[in-house]
Amino acid sequence: MARPLFILNGPNLNLLGTREPDIYGYATLSDIEAACAEHAHMLGHTIDFRQTNHEGVLIDAVQEAGREASALIINPAGYGHTSIALHDALKAIPIPAIEIHLSQPAAREAFRHHSYVSSAVSGTISGFGARSYILGIEAAHALIAASGPKTKA
Ligand code: DQA
Repeated sequence: MARPLFILNGPNLNLLGTREPDIYGYATLSDIEAACAEHAHMLGHTIDFRQTNHEGVLIDAVQEAGREASALIINPAGYGHTSIALHDALKAIPIPAIEIHLSQPAAREAFRHHSYVSSAVSGTISGFGARSYILGIEAAHALIAASGPKTKA
């Protein structure tokens, strides 16, 4: 079976829809998951979409992506600004990884300007609201295609 795209979401993203909607919009994480599944399907991918509020669970999921996924799209949320362990996990996986954010952290508080994730991924997409997820899928699709055909069965 083809490997899925892993789409991982960090802390507080379960609250989307009611959490600071002026910044993050009104789409819930379920709405975003449905849009991702549809867009990924159109490009020939399945998705494994998860959210956790726990750093170690997020790191376990990154490691699992390294074993099971074709590519990883991650919204690390607050852990992007704090977690060296998440940086290390991302450095350790052999698949393309893309960082996404709904908002534009560079235009927000100074403590959001640094990401430990950015230096461990292929690229970052931020500031496009829920559409950042769709653009992340497009980027993952392009990176998978660019990495060429896998070995034949
Ligand atoms: C976020 C931006 C982070 O700074 C913040 O901690 C989040 C959400 C975003 O998607 O815009 O929780 O990752």
